[in-house]
Amino acid sequence: MERKTVLVSGGAGYIGSHTAVELINAGYDVVIADNLSNSDISGVEGVRAITGVDVPFVNVDCCDKQAFAQLFEQYNFDSVIHFAAYKAVGESVADPMKYYRNNLLSFINVVDLMRQYGRHNIVFSSSATVYGEADTLPVTEATERKAATSAYGNTKQMCEDILRDASGAYEQINGIALRYFNPIGAHPSALIGELPRGVPQNLVPYITQTAAGVRECLSIFGDDYPTEDGSCLRDYIDIVDLAKAHLAAINRMTEGRCNAKYEVFNVGTGRAVSVFELVKTFEKVNNLKLNYKVAPRRQGDVVAVWADTALANKELGWQAERSLEDTLRSAWEWEKRVRNIK
Ligand code: UFG
Repeated sequence: MERKTVLVSGGAGYIGSHTAVELINAGYDVVIADNLSNSDISGVEGVRAITGVDVPFVNVDCCDKQAFAQLFEQYNFDSVIHFAAYKAVGESVADPMKYYRNNLLSFINVVDLMRQYGRHNIVFSSSATVYGEADTLPVTEATERKAATSAYGNTKQMCEDILRDASGAYEQINGIALRYFNPIGAHPSALIGELPRGVPQNLVPYITQTAAGVRECLSIFGDDYPTEDGSCLRDYIDIVDLAKAHLAAINRMTEGRCNAKYEVFNVGTGRAVSVFELVKTFEKVNNLKLNYKVAPRRQGDVVAVWADTALANKELGWQAERSLEDTLRSAWEWEKRVRNIK
């Protein structure tokens, strides 16, 4: 079979690097494009170490259309997975233009250049954030999107719409948007994982850094929500499982198995887990005690969101496989490696 190349923008980052590994292991050639604005070259080195492939890396800002176009000149990829984007919800509320400029412009450039160079398949990193506080749970892909409460969330909705319209209008372009729930954990090799800059905004990196002694105490944001134990419910998806969903999407597109020019899939486990349950599971599987306290609710948090995964199971032939226990073990193994803890 002729080898196919996939461009992975943002491929040095957390989800991008794990996806690059799965693509390479499945026989794709991968080109990583990243400006390292919120990632590290070690992500690329980790991909190379795991796969034994000297995957090409290009330091480029996808907002710089001319520089980005060079990549299209140089490499003959037919598919792109576009991860490159800012992702901090709070920051996007404080500085919305930073998010609109970066996340929209880079995606518009992707679509324009794919058209210009006669390339076909675009996978976009969307988020469960598009569902907001859903009226019915679990959410299916047909569940109504709610008005975004952050510029970050708004860019996810806007890019979905851009992809829907572009693939509807242009014969050549096919689109798949993957709506991620809460990605956690690390590669079983502990050679790649999440590397947040500064104080982690997300639960699992905050937990692992607290366990490592980098943070003093985890704050659990709210224990008075209308849930069984009072904390919020989320659908935590293992990072390698999430990466494999991208592989399934790329296979589907390159093999011409899509049912429509634009498709949307939830990528979650289908299981709701509370913050307390996650913390307790982390303590149990890693045999340690975590310093934590209950703190006030965090502004903007939804009470609960988890995925109906039937569509992804059926159409992508994909389902989450790794247990929460294994995923939380891998998160701690990665943190220990980063901190040099034996
Ligand atoms: N939480 C804590 N303490 C922390 C961090 C988080 O209790 O220090 C809680 C949150 O309140 C929430 C849960 O842990 O109940 C998960 O929080 P995360 O920040 O890890 O994840 P979110 O569900 O808030 O965020 C995810 C994605 C975002 C996306 C958002 C939309 O990471 O990219 O969903 O809701 F925008």
